[in-house]
Amino acid sequence: MAPGILVQEPVQVLPSSRTTAVLKNEDAPRSIFPDGIRTSGQHPPLYEALRPYSEFPKEISGPTVWTKEEYVNNPERWVHPFTEEEIGELSEAADRFIASGAPLTGISKENFRLNKMTKVLQVLRNDLLNGKGFILFKGFPAEAWGPLKTSVAYMGLGQYVGYFVSQNRHGHVLGHVKDVGDDPSQIHSTRIYRTSARQFFHADDSDVVGLLCLHRAAEGGESDIVSVHNVWNALQRENPDVAELLTRPVWYFDRKGEVSDGQEEWVRQPVIYLENGGKGRLYCKWDPYYVRSLTRFSDAGIIPALSEEQEHAIQVLEDTCNRLSLHMILEVGDIQFVSNAHLLHARTAYKDFPPPSPRRHLLRLWLATPETEGGWALPMPDSKEKKRGGIQVNNNPPRAPLDAE
Ligand SMILES: [Fe+2]
Repeated sequence: MAPGILVQEPVQVLPSSRTTAVLKNEDAPRSIFPDGIRTSGQHPPLYEALRPYSEFPKEISGPTVWTKEEYVNNPERWVHPFTEEEIGELSEAADRFIASGAPLTGISKENFRLNKMTKVLQVLRNDLLNGKGFILFKGFPAEAWGPLKTSVAYMGLGQYVGYFVSQNRHGHVLGHVKDVGDDPSQIHSTRIYRTSARQFFHADDSDVVGLLCLHRAAEGGESDIVSVHNVWNALQRENPDVAELLTRPVWYFDRKGEVSDGQEEWVRQPVIYLENGGKGRLYCKWDPYYVRSLTRFSDAGIIPALSEEQEHAIQVLEDTCNRLSLHMILEVGDIQFVSNAHLLHARTAYKDFPPPSPRRHLLRLWLATPETEGGWALPMPDSKEKKRGGIQVNNNPPRAPLDAE
């Protein structure tokens, strides 16, 4: 799901600790909160900071708005095959890091140097954050390198996009996306990435998600991505009632039991919202599994059930995403990076090869993209759109919250 909302008012930190403190955003030490203090997306929003539908843009323009027709027959615009030189540099950096004995979670741009690739990664990263929001690398030699070197090189590469955030209650920062036999019908407790079921259009709880394909499925498991800003424009034109409903804080998202003492089991917030401060960028926090899984509370009358209008909106949103999305298939050695800030992604259901063939297996990174990294924010690729007042210019995407699909 998309990042949380910037906290501008004084906030209490460490609420369950004896050492509670109140911090203003400008007081936050940037060594600990590189992007300032923001809500995590796993907490209720600042309801008074939410903007009414009438203040939302009627039409978004600029490089974050794209159609599949721009890319479907132009892979050179979004596929980056690793060159031999780039693989060589990744290999040397990984070998050096392994030889240093540093822990994998301590990997950084300082101890995983990519001098030759830096320029190209700057451009790709800027496009990921402020442009179309996706990239597919090809030719990562995962099979040749084995698990350790693959993990080091992949996580090291990820550092040039952002820093790791936890992907689940266990604090995993390198996730294994594979069918481990969990029951996808138990959506109140099951994380769908641990099953072979379809993943409807959604955003993860990080600024960027990376997927490295280690093994493919026998059939299915294919990827679809869509520009949220293009979807918003389409909803405004075709289904303004749905667009309006998505901006209202009447949507309950399941915490799936990952709660601290005293927390509610859900978070109530809008699906579409505007960045509070910054550039006023439009975000989408969405995953239908997380709003459908709360029947254990709505059946008991504790929270409202989804209304007919909400069921209709869910279907319209999914249908619109399907119609406007770009389809791609991840081959072994492909690395896909996708923005959660202005893209939704989906995955088709799949079937694995029968044993002893390996199951479909992807390595996942969830990355936050700090605003304070000097030298990384480049000018927008389309300055004309900027002058025309496109709202999607954002060199300061919020930091990522923890844990969701
Ligand atoms: Fe996802």
